[in-house]
Amino acid sequence: MESSRGAILALFLLVTFASSSAKVDEENPEFWRSQARRTLQSTLDRKLNTNVAKNILFFLGDGMGITTFTAARILKGQLQNQTGEETVMTMDTFPNVGLVKTYSVDFQIPDSAATATAYLCGVKTNLNTIGVNAAARNGVCKTQKGNEVTSILKWAKDAGKSVGIVTTTRVQHATPATSYAHSASRKWYSDADMPDGAKKDGCTDIASQLLKNTDIDVIIGGGRKYMTPRGTKDPEYPRDYSSRGKRKDGRNLINEWQMLKTGKVAHYVWNKTDFDAVDPETTDYLMALFEPGDLRFEAERDPSTDPSLVETTEKAIRILQKNPKGFFLLVEGGRIDQAHHAGRGYMALHETVALDYAVAKGLELTREEETLTIVMADHSHPLTFNGYPFRGQSILGKSPLWATDMLPYTTLMYGNGPGHKLANGTRPDIRKVNTKSKDYVQLSAVPTQSATHSGEDVAVLARGPMAHLFQGVQEQNYVAHAMAYAACVGADLRHCQGQTAVHTTTPEENIWNGAHRSAALLGVLLSALLAHALLM
Ligand SMILES: *[C@@H]1O[C@H](CO)[C@@H](O)[C@H](O)[C@H]1NC(C)=O
Ligand SMILES: *[C@@H]1O[C@H](CO)[C@@H](O)[C@H](O)[C@H]1NC(C)=O
Ligand SMILES: *[C@@H]1O[C@H](CO)[C@@H](O)[C@H](O)[C@H]1NC(C)=O
Ligand SMILES: [Zn+2]
Repeated sequence: MESSRGAILALFLLVTFASSSAKVDEENPEFWRSQARRTLQSTLDRKLNTNVAKNILFFLGDGMGITTFTAARILKGQLQNQTGEETVMTMDTFPNVGLVKTYSVDFQIPDSAATATAYLCGVKTNLNTIGVNAAARNGVCKTQKGNEVTSILKWAKDAGKSVGIVTTTRVQHATPATSYAHSASRKWYSDADMPDGAKKDGCTDIASQLLKNTDIDVIIGGGRKYMTPRGTKDPEYPRDYSSRGKRKDGRNLINEWQMLKTGKVAHYVWNKTDFDAVDPETTDYLMALFEPGDLRFEAERDPSTDPSLVETTEKAIRILQKNPKGFFLLVEGGRIDQAHHAGRGYMALHETVALDYAVAKGLELTREEETLTIVMADHSHPLTFNGYPFRGQSILGKSPLWATDMLPYTTLMYGNGPGHKLANGTRPDIRKVNTKSKDYVQLSAVPTQSATHSGEDVAVLARGPMAHLFQGVQEQNYVAHAMAYAACVGADLRHCQGQTAVHTTTPEENIWNGAHRSAALLGVLLSALLAHALLM
């Protein structure tokens, strides 16, 4: 049979190539044994950090499922001319990992609004709703009233910390919006996006809530057009009609924001020149909106006009960390999700690598003793990583073995999405297609205009004070409670009892050591007694 001969030939080539590209040191078993011994020792040496978190640095990869995570690691290594699989991303170095169940109250597979309400406000809710509990209905303003839930950004501000949001999307988008707004619909970016009925019933748009609900010290992302009156020319794209201001109520929220901050050092910037000129040492407030809507993909960013996520993360931390009481900062890699929706693996992975560099910058600027750093995804995407690619083969490449239709397929594919292309019942022949290009759309099993989200658990990674709370398989809303407990903000202040802001760990607190277990037991008894005393 022609096809089985083809398969045997391909298999032969596979084995030949695979062994010739194997790394010499990896053929020595001592390589693996010593590598494992070093890892084991560093795990044994790990100290339990029970400090109160002065700072919370929360990195959210929108749509950054486990497959994306693994594939981005390989890409990051390959961009540095490594084979990639063995590369250690910054996110990989976080000692505590848990799994998070992402379903919303009404859907098995959630969206970014419902999930953000879970991990920022501590309450699971319905799809498309922001900062409201599940008694509120998607798009129904009347059901919003009385059902608002506040976020950890507000709890941190109320506790005297400085707070900020940094994103690669518009700052009114679901993830950042949930930190400051309450909205029965995630789509109510400006008043022009709201039905008249919702306005009559007293609901307000998300952009206007950016100024009203919580006094946010640092706001960085895109979304200028939702802030200015209808028809206002955009400073960067004055001739582009779709970039113009959207607001029907005639308000200019950028000017209003500047007025509100009179007497403080507050900067509004929309380009990189002005952004670079902002001195974090003297700045109290920063609002930076680099695009009318979402920012550009990292791979298409113009570094002369727009800063990278690394640069925006750094500026935010430097401004916020002047507060002796600490800070809460949400940093979102928001366009991993958008690239996946478009079936563009290249873009999704490059956005994830950009987020990993921002995480590295965050760790560089803070101290593990006092900063709880979290990396998490809100939900996953139907990206699959399949076939038997050679070691070190491009993660954006094709299978060495062809499918039974005698055509190759890409290592990365989607369950659904815009990449479904059948012609006369045959898959496209991609032998001559450059699947590594930034615009390539991977094959999907089922045609949908936009890839959907997917429903498997996502990872939560943690480092710093109380990072050990982020373990096991948890409901997503637990994350807000655990972060708040660690930082001693919000409703549960038990962790404040008898703690100073920074408590240096002692060797007895070694996580794997028996002495620690009895100390922990004693701690549990003490806090139970304390809780009992407080209840009386
Ligand atoms: C990787 O190799 C290519 C081709 O040899 C070279 O142009 C590039 O600079 C290298 N990149 C790194 C990060 O070493
Ligand atoms: C940046 O924004 C400021 C303030 O609007 C403006 O004066 C300046 O010309 C802009 N710079 C660039 C390079 O666009
Ligand atoms: C499908 O098959 C028909 C008939 O053989 C042929 O004319 C047509 O070009 C094919 N379409 C494509 C997209 O290959
Ligand atoms: Zn999405």
